[in-house]
Parts: sequence; C-alpha cells; structure tokens
Amino acid sequence: MSIQYISDKKLFLLNTKNTSYQFRVAEFGFLEHLYYGRKIPDSADYLPVRLRHGFEANPYEAEKDRTISLDVLEQEYPGFGVSDFKTAAVRVQNGDGSDCIDLRYVSHKIYEGKYAIEGMPSLRENNGDWTTLEVLMRDSSSQIEVTLVYGVLGKYDVITRCARIYNVGNKNVFVQRAHSVCVAFPTDKLDAISFYGSWGHERNMERMPVRHGKYTIDSTRGISSHYYNPSMILCSQDATEEQGDCYGIALVYSGNFAMTVEVNDFKQTRIVAGVNPDTFCWRLAPKEHFCTPEAVMTYSYEGFTAMSHNFHRTIKYHLIPKQFIGKRCPVLINNWEATMIDFDEEQLMAIAEKAKTLGVEMFVMDDGWFGRRTDEYRGLGDWQCNWQKIPSGIAGLSKRIHSLGMKFGIWIEPEMVNEDSELYEEHPDWCIRIPGRNPTRQRYQLVLDFTRDEVIDNIYNQLYEEFKDAEIDYIKWDMNRSMTERFSTALPAERQGEVCHRYVLGFYKLMQRLTDAFPRVRLEGCCGGGGRFDMGVLYYAPQIWCSDDTDAIERIPIQYGTSFIYPPFTMGSHVSECPNQQTGRVVSIDTRAALAYFGTFGYELDPNRLTDEEQEAVCRQIDYYCRYGEVSAQGCYYRLTNPQTEKEYAAFLSVAEDQTKAVLCFIQQVSGANKGIIYLKLRGLLENENYEILELGMTCSGAALMYAGLPMPQIKADNEARVYTLCVMQE
Ligand code: DGJ
Repeated sequence: MSIQYISDKKLFLLNTKNTSYQFRVAEFGFLEHLYYGRKIPDSADYLPVRLRHGFEANPYEAEKDRTISLDVLEQEYPGFGVSDFKTAAVRVQNGDGSDCIDLRYVSHKIYEGKYAIEGMPSLRENNGDWTTLEVLMRDSSSQIEVTLVYGVLGKYDVITRCARIYNVGNKNVFVQRAHSVCVAFPTDKLDAISFYGSWGHERNMERMPVRHGKYTIDSTRGISSHYYNPSMILCSQDATEEQGDCYGIALVYSGNFAMTVEVNDFKQTRIVAGVNPDTFCWRLAPKEHFCTPEAVMTYSYEGFTAMSHNFHRTIKYHLIPKQFIGKRCPVLINNWEATMIDFDEEQLMAIAEKAKTLGVEMFVMDDGWFGRRTDEYRGLGDWQCNWQKIPSGIAGLSKRIHSLGMKFGIWIEPEMVNEDSELYEEHPDWCIRIPGRNPTRQRYQLVLDFTRDEVIDNIYNQLYEEFKDAEIDYIKWDMNRSMTERFSTALPAERQGEVCHRYVLGFYKLMQRLTDAFPRVRLEGCCGGGGRFDMGVLYYAPQIWCSDDTDAIERIPIQYGTSFIYPPFTMGSHVSECPNQQTGRVVSIDTRAALAYFGTFGYELDPNRLTDEEQEAVCRQIDYYCRYGEVSAQGCYYRLTNPQTEKEYAAFLSVAEDQTKAVLCFIQQVSGANKGIIYLKLRGLLENENYEILELGMTCSGAALMYAGLPMPQIKADNEARVYTLCVMQE
C-alpha cells in the first residue's frame, strides 16, 4: 500500500516509486508537514525541533509551554487568524462575522483507487496504482470541517491534492480563500521557476531564487491566461536538466488561480496554490460544501527532465480522454492564416482539394462560418451556418470534405457573444456585466454568463443541432477575451464572489456535454493562442493551440517553456504562412516543419500559393510525420539547450518509450564564419545499442551519442533546422 498510517506515531506516510511525503498529527491535533522528497524508508518525525523563538504566539492548550508555535510548526493546510501568520490555505468568514479558522485532526480513511471531483476535471484512475487518503479536520468553534484529499500514483511519482470545505453549522459562512495545496520546505535554498508571457509569447521560463516575503503568480482574467501558467517548480539551486531536486506543482484548473511562494526568517519556504482569493468569495449555506480544484505534484531528484517526464506520462495516461491516448492528431490544414474570417465555400474547397493532393488528412474551417460573421465585430453567439458563405451548410460541406477522403474539423467560440448577434438581441442580460456600468469590450465581444444553466443549454442546443447531421471529426474551441466586470444578474449581491469559479464550472459542463454527445470528436483547446493552456482543458481536449505566434523561431522558447509541464503531443503546432504573419520573418518551410513535428503538426496556409518546391517539401514532411510523429510528438522529450539563455542554436530530442527510435532537432539560429564544431550530447538512448542516423547514413552506439556527442553541421544560414532520425539497428 502506498499510503500508510503508523498509529503509535500518528504518522502518515505517502510513498511513490521514488518519493516520500510525510506528515503527522502533532500536539493538540495540528496536522504537521514533515517531509517531501527523495524516498526514505523510515519516519521523518524526528525532524521538527521545538524551541522558543521569541515573540512567539502559542496555542491556548500549550499553557506554559512556549515551544509550540505556529510561527514554525508547518501545517499541512494552514488556516487563518490564529497565529499562523504566513499565507493561509483556507480562510472563512464565519456566521458571527469572525474570520478565524483553526483546523485540527479528527479522523482519516485510506482506500484503493482514485477519488473524483464532481463537476471538475481531475486525473483519471485509468487502471493506475492509485491509493487515496482523506483526512477530516475540524474547527470546533466555527463548525467548519475540511477534508484534505490526497491521491498517490506510485508509478509516476505523482501526488494529487484537493480540499473539501463543509459548513456543518447552522449559519451561512463565506469561504474567502480555498487553496488546493500547501507544501512546506525547511530551507530557503531554493529557486522558483514560473512561466510568464503575453499574447503571442506564452510560457517563458523564468528562474529566480526564493526571497523573504511573498512571490505570487496569478490570474484575474477568468482564464488561466497567457500571462502566467498555473504551474510552478521549486528546485535546489544546483538543479539542471539532469540532476537536482525538482518539485513541480500544476493545477487542474482553467480559471483565476494563484500560487504564492513565501520565505520567512526561519528559512522555511511555503508554497500554496489554488483558486485566486482576489476574485473569490463563496457562500456556504448549512450542510453545503465546496471542493477546490485538484493540484498535481511531482518530485524528482534527477533534475527537470525527469520531473517533466513524470508530468508528461501522467497527462498522457491519466488526464486526456482515454480514446486519444497515444493516437496522433490527423495532419490538418487550417484556413485561418490563409483567409482569416473572409472566405466562402469554394475558397475552402480549393484549399482542401490542393491540400489533399499533398497528403493532408483533415481540413479545419476556422472562424467565420456562422451567423452574421463577416468580420470580427458580429456573429458570435449564433451557431447556425451562414448559408451565403457556405451554401452546402455544415453537413453538406463536411460531406464534400469527406468525399475527398479527408476528415473535417470546425472552429467554435461558444463562451462569447457579439452585441451584433441574434443571441444578444434576444438575451442582452445573458452576458457577464454589471447593470448600469458600461462593459469593457475586447475584440468587440462580451463573455456569456456560463454561471447560468439556461445559457449553457442554449449554446449546447445550437451546437448540437448544427453538428448532429454533419461529419465532424475535430472541434477547435477558442476563447478570445479576458473577463471583466464580474457579475451575474442571476446571483444575489452576496454571491457575486462566486461568479468566476462558477463560470469555470459552466465551461467544464459544456465541454463535458459536447464531448459526451460527440465522443469521437477530437477537441483542440485554444484561447487567443495559448491563453488557457492547462490541465483542466487537457481533461477534455487532448491538445491545445500553443500560441498565435506561428513564427518557427519564436516558437522555440514557447514550446520549450510549455514542455516543462506539458508533453509535445498536447502542443498545437503548425507550418504557417511565410513571411510570418506575426513577425514578418522568412524561414524555410523545413525549419517551420521541424518545430511542428514536436507538436500536433499541421498547416496554417494556402497550399495553392506554395511553390512547386514547397509543395514537394509538404509531401515529404507529411510522409515523415506519419512515420515518425509517434516518436517526435509522443516520445520522451529532452530539452538539450535553454533558448532563454542560449541564442546561437537550439536543440531538442524525443525518444520512443521503448528507446529504439529517436528524432533530434537542431536549429542553427545565428550562423558565423569559421565556427567550432558543436557536439550535441543526446539523451535517453540505450547505451549498448547501435543507432543508424538515417539522414547521415552513419551508425553509432547509444553510449557514444550520449557521452561523446554527435557533430552538428556547419550551416551557412540563420534559422536553419536539421532533423535527424535514429533507429536501433536490427540484428
Ligand atoms: C484566435 C486563435 O488563436 C486563432 O488561431 C484563430 O482561430 C482566431 N482566434 C479566430 O478568430
């Protein structure tokens, strides 16, 4: 059993293959965190040292013992207002107006299998070696109970957490803070890594030492956002890709989140993560409960690569919908960069027909097919075909595409409405805005009030009616604005603090209904590019459009940062128009493909405008991806350079799970005269096997390639990529 309770020591031991997590019931029922890290066989309950620190506050029950203080006793799930002065995991305004919450151990249970969270995504059991621990805690004066839930997935060194907060009293209470996780470390010798960005520049890796005080990343935009990804890494200061302590935490959540790292004067570091308290206040009536989103934690003492692999395998085998595990997305062509919104059926058919001759497997019709949608200013909310643009209708067009021997995909943005739409004319009160206050517009659209079931029903019914007779294989689900003026006319004043979280629950509800109705359909998440790239979305959609910046060179750091938590097969990545529409950069079609191989792979251009040479390249590329995409996108991913600091060249590698094949990408970003040779040391290969490098016609042992390296070519051009395919020689 990977979870044990040692009753004489009141100790909880959570063990995965390579890690241990320990806490205990300490004096007066406090739940005290003891240890998280590399696996240890014995108990770590010798670690806490009780000392007087000066100016310490002591729990009432300690009487004259001044060595017990929440200043230093690290709680598993710290409350608020009773002398733990660091960032709280939970805070409640009680029925009497007080805001203290002081949780003490009551009981626990341990069971085989994985818990689920109602109405919210969480890791799936999927025959994993899961064990669950539930610890019940109570604040006896305020009548609040909290169940701390821990899931242990031994095989991938993963521990999940969430908390259920119950009102067992007889007055309404208001939950003001409800984090999913709190972890303490008895050191300040740590670096924090987070992923910041903006539209077109998502998930830039940033590493800095933890400092006294608090460092918070968060979102108040209603979406997890381009600006900070809902994930963080704490690592030892010497951690590299190949060695060092690395703790990763990611939320299975797509809305306003917050993650705070705090260091105090006793060299203790605490991290908390969960729903952003700045935009959250939840009324709990008697007998009601609130459940936090799930947090996924993993630890490795072997550096970032091993930590990323734990996340990647967990996402692959325990998060994305089961029917897509290990199945690559058909090679697609999307018309967005070719036509934008302004297209008609024959233009689309011309793109699809040409693409088919080059080997493309699926045609995806992007924004512009519905309602009054002739430009960005109108149409959202009306999910009926615009017959002037598509005379065959969606069903007819999908059949035309299928008769070419291609699959058919379609774009939607179901959470939005334009004021110039039938939906808005009929239901102006169905969007999120404050009556009497002008709403902020973004791309001339407003956010629909997904806290309301009738709004979700309406959008679901429209989409269902439109799609039920069509042959749809893929849906790109977009979302193109931040939420402002958070308010729902369906909720009373005292419950307006629930809007943002209820919106996310509504978003999940519609994703669930749509995927239940069309289980074969592959969803792609999207949010103005990669503005909602998180584990919440990946529960429904096995892939997410990584960024609207499709410039291959700019994609290097974006895909690099994304890969710390998310595997390549989740990253929507396409060969796009050239010169690039966002940067104007001219990059060869092979370099553009090299980046896209390490993602879902597809095209975002008009194939009729390609030269003969480029068309030949497309045929070659598709053939390559069909043969080796399984390795480049689904394999174990190794970052060989850090593009944040190394600007001359970038390199990364994917190795098949059985290690018999690998795909290596080298991109020379800046050429120079008379340069030295770059020897790339590969990783993840079988030492004693000989690999043939198909493009070079040479053979080398795995050991030589990993320890001596592979010489890279001297290329007389900037931004040129080379892709090398390695296959174990058959006897
Ligand atoms: C933003 C997406 O990221 C693009 O790929 C495209 O689908 C547009 N929206 C369409 O409006």
